[in-house]
Amino acid sequence: MTKVRRRVQPGEQALACDLDLAARIEARSARIGVIGQGYVGLPLALVFREAGFPVIGLDVDARKVEALQRGESYIQHIGPERVAAAVASGRYEATVDFDRLAACDAIVICVPTPLGPHREPDNSYIHATARQVAKRLRRGQLVILESTTYPGTTEEEVLPILGESGLTTPGDFLLAFSPEREDPGRQNFNTRTIPKLVGGVNPASTDFAAMLYAAALERVIPVSSARVAESAKLLENVFRAVNIALVNELKMIFEHMAIDVWEVIRAAETKPFGFMAFYPGPGLGGHCIPLDPFYLSWKAAEHGEWARFIELAGEINSRMPRYVVERVAHALNQDGKALNGSRVLVLGLAYKANIDDDRESPSYEILELLQESGARVDYCDPYFPAARKGRKHDLGIRSVACKPEVFAGYDALVVATAHDAFKDAALYRDVGLVVDTRNMIAPLHGSGPRRLVKA
Ligand SMILES: NC(=O)c1ccc[n+]([C@@H]2O[C@H](COP(=O)([O-])OP(=O)(O)OC[C@H]3O[C@@H](n4cnc5c(N)ncnc54)[C@H](O)[C@@H]3O)[C@@H](O)[C@H]2O)c1
Repeated sequence: MTKVRRRVQPGEQALACDLDLAARIEARSARIGVIGQGYVGLPLALVFREAGFPVIGLDVDARKVEALQRGESYIQHIGPERVAAAVASGRYEATVDFDRLAACDAIVICVPTPLGPHREPDNSYIHATARQVAKRLRRGQLVILESTTYPGTTEEEVLPILGESGLTTPGDFLLAFSPEREDPGRQNFNTRTIPKLVGGVNPASTDFAAMLYAAALERVIPVSSARVAESAKLLENVFRAVNIALVNELKMIFEHMAIDVWEVIRAAETKPFGFMAFYPGPGLGGHCIPLDPFYLSWKAAEHGEWARFIELAGEINSRMPRYVVERVAHALNQDGKALNGSRVLVLGLAYKANIDDDRESPSYEILELLQESGARVDYCDPYFPAARKGRKHDLGIRSVACKPEVFAGYDALVVATAHDAFKDAALYRDVGLVVDTRNMIAPLHGSGPRRLVKA
């Protein structure tokens, strides 16, 4: 693990608790409160606990807290054995009691940052949490924001709220931003091994935050400010959103030229430098890529700037579900069938393969658009026995079984998620039409559907 030593800046006001906090981090006795026990906060809390720290996981959702206290994981890719071991160790505890923050040496905020109805940032969770922290803030505490947000949030919004306590930084408390880079389902990296950026609102805050993470994670990279750390996270996600939009647009262009975009990407990928493959799909999903870039474009407008790449990428990517439904309608038409009245099965509710996360999944929009066109729709997803009620959708349907005889009963199948459970060629042996947005069917060997359309 990286060892980060405290650099005292010339003329810097010494923290009364400076040595105490450093010693507690070094000894792994610093108590860490992680606010928000979701996809980001729960694995982070577990990693700190596994590194030897006592950890309190705080959340407003009493049902999640109760499950965690029973030693159960409610997130499929976070094994229940990790939560059970954490609870049994006596060094992890989940609670809804925010008064417990007073006993924490470090407080890490991992609450949601969604978009409002007009794609505007909604920082209300961050503000509410900062107020909870401010009420209990005491000298010597280190506060770190991990929620993805626009540059300036830590310094311009969180700092003034914490300042309502009457305490100041760096004299009394420390404040930093460290972006979360969690990628659920990824096999080659995890919370502990993903390099961690850290930027404080002053050098002392950067140093202490870096010291804390270095005690539990493999690699910590301090940057010069919280703003740089906030911006780096957005650059990463804008980069993905723009490149996915690029291949989505190329897919539609190549389709008119009867060129298979997947083969083109495979060919381009053979260049050993200067190219990175991105893949088209049915639209963006997940908690990050569809949302985070708009945090930056919103903030850019405040400075009189247009984030044109972000807006264009958003326009192309958000059009993809509609494109997929148009392709289904066209393909059925070629079979002499109308979308209206046809039975259509969507494979996959999760936004990506082999995970139980359906947030912002384009499958919901595809299902709704199909329904609006009069299709009789169902879905199949082993990770979601029932479609969840979301902020925008309430389909009220349950998954059908993943069986050849079930699949055979539909006029068209739409592959929206390439779960491994769908990769058995035998499932498609009696299927008439598959519209595949993931290039999942073509590489399967064995008897496939009678007609395959890539979309
Ligand atoms: N999920 C990812 O893969 C991922 C990756 C990188 C960054 N992020 C960012 O991390 C942040 C958290 O995302 P997530 O995926 O963990 O969200 P999540 O919805 O899974 O978890 C957030 C948790 O916070 C709780 N919560 C809400 N309001 C609260 C409050 N006021 N006090 C305490 N707890 C509260 C919720 O009950 C929930 O359990 C977001 O800013 C997101 O953009 C997420």
